Amino acid sequence: MAKPAQEPVYAQINLLDKEFEQISRWVYLAAGIRLTDSKKALVSSRLSGRLRELQLISFQQYIDMITNAKHPLSATERQNAINLLTTNETFFFREIAHFDFIREVVLPLKSGRKMRCWSAASSTGEEAYSLAMTLAQHHNGAWEIVGTDINEEVVTKARSAIYPMLRADNIPKAQLHQFCLKGTGSKAGTFKIAKELRRNVSFRQANLQQLPPDLGQFDLVFLRNVMIYFDVASKERVIANVQRQMKPGSYLLIGHAESLNGIANQLTLIRPSIYLVA
Ligand SMILES: C[S@@+](CC[C@H](N)C(=O)[O-])C[C@H]1O[C@@H](n2cnc3c(N)ncnc32)[C@H](O)[C@@H]1O
Repeated sequence: MAKPAQEPVYAQINLLDKEFEQISRWVYLAAGIRLTDSKKALVSSRLSGRLRELQLISFQQYIDMITNAKHPLSATERQNAINLLTTNETFFFREIAHFDFIREVVLPLKSGRKMRCWSAASSTGEEAYSLAMTLAQHHNGAWEIVGTDINEEVVTKARSAIYPMLRADNIPKAQLHQFCLKGTGSKAGTFKIAKELRRNVSFRQANLQQLPPDLGQFDLVFLRNVMIYFDVASKERVIANVQRQMKPGSYLLIGHAESLNGIANQLTLIRPSIYLVA
């Protein structure tokens, strides 16, 4: 067979250092995420498929597209870039000690009262639904959970509440039987979160660096495994924003690998990774 006269020009697109710097600057301004030099290969591999889809021949063309507000695809492509550049790793009942704390300490104190909770970087929703299972089983009172994430794609997945069966491994058997419905037919190999939980859980796209004005006040906030992507200035902004959404007597739970050392806040550390708003 004759070889094509020309190889497709987009077969191998090199990400230049100055382009990587421009992308890093852009994602920092857009999301507060600090991409260190060690992330260059990752950025290149995550974005190069998108460049191919758009038939672009250089990263510079892509940068021009997302940074030039007048470009007709700019707004959509900015969101696509955020979707591609965020890391959304999560799983059910991650950091189980937090769920034990909620059951043993928080819920007895809030008994009889409505609990408004926020999963503030909810990714595909596992964190919010794990909390929903805990509240449905152990809270004596009404409850509501709002999940937010900057990545629109994961927000859509979270809303669907459908997960591959493999994701069920961390869900305790009792909750799995009570709150997860096994898919059949075209949905075989998946499960869906039961309606009795879904009706009290909602998801929306939101940037922690610049929160929407109508989020309301919360009794409990999960802000877990997202500050690891921020530098001190971004963290400070996010903690100030999050604190404004917290009621007196509410709890903030951060990831076990994260810390608020050196970050101005009015929070009282009551256990490792657990803070109380006085
Ligand atoms: C590693 S996941 C953590 C998910 C979950 N909280 C957990 O601990 O399993 C981090 C999430 O933070 C989101 N994220 C990153 N920057 C954000 C920002 N500025 N505002 C809102 N969400 C952001 C990402 O899209 C991603 O879904």
